[in-house]
Amino acid sequence: MQHYTLIIFGGTGDLTRRKLIPAVRELVRKDPEMAVSVLGIGRTPLSGNDYKTLLLQGEDLPPRMTIHYYTGNVMEPDSMAGLREKIESVESGMPAGRIFYLATSYKLFGRIAKCIRSCCTENDKFFTRIIAEKPFGSDRKSFNRLNEELKTHFTESQIYRADHYLAKGTVDNILRTRFSNPLFESVWNSGFISRITIAVEEKLGVANRTGYYDQTGAIKDMVQNHLLQTLSLILMNTTRPLEESSFRQAKINAIDNLYFDHEIRTGQYRGYLDEVQNINPGSETETFAELKLHSRDPRWKGTGIVLRTGKKLKKRQAYIEIEFRGTSCSVCPEPGHVSNKLILHIQPLQNVELTINTTLPGEKAELKPVKMTFCPTCEFRSNTPEAYEMILKECLRGNKRLFMNAEELDIAWRLTDSILEDLKERKPVIYEPGSTGPADGNAGGQDQ
Ligand code: BG6
Repeated sequence: MQHYTLIIFGGTGDLTRRKLIPAVRELVRKDPEMAVSVLGIGRTPLSGNDYKTLLLQGEDLPPRMTIHYYTGNVMEPDSMAGLREKIESVESGMPAGRIFYLATSYKLFGRIAKCIRSCCTENDKFFTRIIAEKPFGSDRKSFNRLNEELKTHFTESQIYRADHYLAKGTVDNILRTRFSNPLFESVWNSGFISRITIAVEEKLGVANRTGYYDQTGAIKDMVQNHLLQTLSLILMNTTRPLEESSFRQAKINAIDNLYFDHEIRTGQYRGYLDEVQNINPGSETETFAELKLHSRDPRWKGTGIVLRTGKKLKKRQAYIEIEFRGTSCSVCPEPGHVSNKLILHIQPLQNVELTINTTLPGEKAELKPVKMTFCPTCEFRSNTPEAYEMILKECLRGNKRLFMNAEELDIAWRLTDSILEDLKERKPVIYEPGSTGPADGNAGGQDQ
């Protein structure tokens, strides 16, 4: 039996309740050789039982999983003095691998790391790992400061920087889809691909996260991390993707080659100002952004790259759309311009869709684009692990594939800073909830 302790800073937060606890429950259910003790840490005084009720919300606790609580505040070091004892009592003498999950604002990461280092890392019988949640800082400078703080207390091999989009089935599959299908990889360049669009559209607004969101906005909340990470897997050049160092370097090069040329539009949903009126009246935070990027990599010169994300939109959907260059079809029944599209749906389903042109049966033999679809979530739904399950599982295995390293984040922040600089000159355009975003314009002109 493998024993693990998951110590969560931010133990009463949304992420713990909605994502981490269900993920641990699934992991333990699926692996009869795994036992996990969860220890949540929060400022609110709660009994162990109240905490369990709060987290489980009526669901059962599987055998081999326990839940505990410690009341403490890292801003008041005295209140953390009993943490070591608490962890040891939770582990009841079993040598356990410890994961410290930092599900708090990045502003507390330095303090938390110091607290962990001073109280709880003497377990030489097993590992100590830290998972930190995005956003990592609010610009390049704050990211680097934060990174230095983390590195003072932990080695790089102990730090796991999570981006849950990397753990979503479709995103995790990008490289396999590309490299196992010569059909795709042989045309994976600007000679054949005119445009790459990555979109994460949400139906919900910012809900109870106004404090965080208003200081962050769509670019820092989604583009800097989820969208750029996904894009790096689409753009990267490599022939040996499974080797950690070449894989990492290829991702870094992909982001490093990107540049922003002021092609952006941003929006704010109507009603957002009412939601934030107590914290920031007249806020100009963007809840929608669509921007165009270019790559200096000769492989991608001339391919338009569009990233789009927004809240309170018409539909909840996330996808990657690869648009192939058109050609003229002289032998078709009605000669004209035709092109193909490959769409990798990230959610709600994980379909792979290829649009091809064909003539439909019938007298007129008209040419029509038709979709060839593979729907893994329809066929294997119950086996599709949630992103946070994958994050915890890979961290327990010591596998960094789904995590980001400091250099990737540093250059992603450099690019993001250049986008944010541009935003200072613009006000977001108001859009209607349930729409497709602000009505005007488009991120870019014609692709070459
Ligand atoms: C988070 C953002 O990282 O991702 C949220 O902070 C966003 O604002 C969420 O809603 C989207 O994730 P998912 O998995 O629901 O698409």
